[in-house]
Amino acid sequence: MSIGNANVLDELVAIVGRGNVLTRREEQQAYVVDWRDRYHGRALAVVRPQSTEEVARVVRACAAAGVPIVPQGGNTGMCGGATPDDSAREVVLTLTRMNRLRAIDVDNATITVEAGMPLATVQASAAAHGLHFPLSLGSEGSCTIGGNLSTNAGGTAVLRFGNARDLVLGLEVVLADGRVLDALRGLRKDNTGYDLKHLFVGSEGTLGIVTAAVLKLFPAPHVQATAFAGVADVSAAVRLLRDLKQALSDRLVGFELISRFALDLCRRHHPSLPDPVPGHPWYALIQANDSAAQSTLAADLERALLSAAERGLVQDAAVAQSAEQAARMWALRDNISESQRREGPNVKHDIALPVSAIPAFIAEGATRIEQAFPGARLVVFGHLGDGNLHYNVAAPAGTDARAFLANTPAINRIVHDLVSAAGGSISAEHGIGQLKRAELRHYKGAVEIEVMERIKAALDPQGLLNPGKVL
Ligand code: FAD
Ligand code: MLT
Ligand code: ZN
Repeated sequence: MSIGNANVLDELVAIVGRGNVLTRREEQQAYVVDWRDRYHGRALAVVRPQSTEEVARVVRACAAAGVPIVPQGGNTGMCGGATPDDSAREVVLTLTRMNRLRAIDVDNATITVEAGMPLATVQASAAAHGLHFPLSLGSEGSCTIGGNLSTNAGGTAVLRFGNARDLVLGLEVVLADGRVLDALRGLRKDNTGYDLKHLFVGSEGTLGIVTAAVLKLFPAPHVQATAFAGVADVSAAVRLLRDLKQALSDRLVGFELISRFALDLCRRHHPSLPDPVPGHPWYALIQANDSAAQSTLAADLERALLSAAERGLVQDAAVAQSAEQAARMWALRDNISESQRREGPNVKHDIALPVSAIPAFIAEGATRIEQAFPGARLVVFGHLGDGNLHYNVAAPAGTDARAFLANTPAINRIVHDLVSAAGGSISAEHGIGQLKRAELRHYKGAVEIEVMERIKAALDPQGLLNPGKVL
């Protein structure tokens, strides 16, 4: 360790206390490896501040010493954005001790929380006041609201409520020089110059450190209806989505696509989960909510599914008869990602397309992957209602999954070229992190990249905030 590093460590200890500066390898472990075990780093220290003032002082100390900072929330990200490099020069700044509820304004329907609050706690805090925070992800017990905003997380209710970006009204951010940008306003209308909060949303810790946010709340759902429908192909799922939007209007909250292969994979690792409608190649998991007390929601959903079945769109469907049944249907969806991790590595994609372009993409993608990598298995699922698929390519059965990863560049090119040709995005909701930096440069226009670089240089001239991520 150099003298400079020793000095900065002393300063960090003076700011957050010795117990919150982790320098030993074993105590850093949970913070320097991503949950998928794809990225392994080493940190000069893991620092755990508990207030905005402490974050600001940590950032000032690091800026003065030229020490890079990797912000981290729940460490559930998919692209290695929260993992330091292996130089042991970077400081991981974890926000998890900043987890307080600052305020709830019921009349304004807003909640003000610190960045390290777990998403599930934000939801529960809103529910305790009869309100609803709709952002919902399989990782909601572990991910933090600061991480959600920094990745502009999507999840399973985007169809109705939008991404994390659509749910934030105000932000408090510590800038790269340690000053605090206080834009913690709970206003639905505010056209006073550039809307700076949106620069930080989705910037993956490269422009500033989010320390608190004002979030929008909604009326709590009174009635919820969940259904699992078997369909013959993805075109039928797209037509069913259109019909359900018509039948249920904005009571339709989520519409997820699951391939039989993905469902089997999930049930292999969670054998106690049900198989609600066996024997179909594709499934739609449908969630509808109504906040009105007098609701015809359940009957309307059943009628719409029946009508879809009569027209051959739906082959079979199960409507949850209890909250527990609904939770078990959702567990089939929410556990796919974790089951994939247990199954072994695969080449993941998180793509967005116009919903109308998805059936052709699925057909063409399958043909091209099979031509290039005979026997490769596709694990396809995702947020069809948002035009967002998790299109993952796994090694042929019985072959070495890790060795198959050597094909990642070629597989990415097949998948992302198809996506690009259809006007889509190579990262719908997971961000870029370190996983997709090269792909970002391959597909983004030169002007867009240059504007991003200029914004980065303006806000972080020393390049100390999450270097090597995004750009
Ligand atoms: P981290 O992983 O800790 O960090 C993510 C990025 O944000 C990093 O670049 C980090 O540097 C930065 N960051 C974190 N906190 C801050 C902060 N306070 N200020 C500045 N930068 C910060 N994602 C979806 O979008 N949709 C899904 O449906 C979804 N489902 C998932 C299901 C499972 C089972 C799992 C494990 C993950 C899922 N994810 C999903 C991915 C992940 O949960 C999200 O990306 C989430 O928003 C990350 O939050 P986090 O607190 O864990 O952030
Ligand atoms: C999901 O929707 O389950 C996630 O975004 C995680 C994944 O893609 O694996
Ligand atoms: Zn997702």
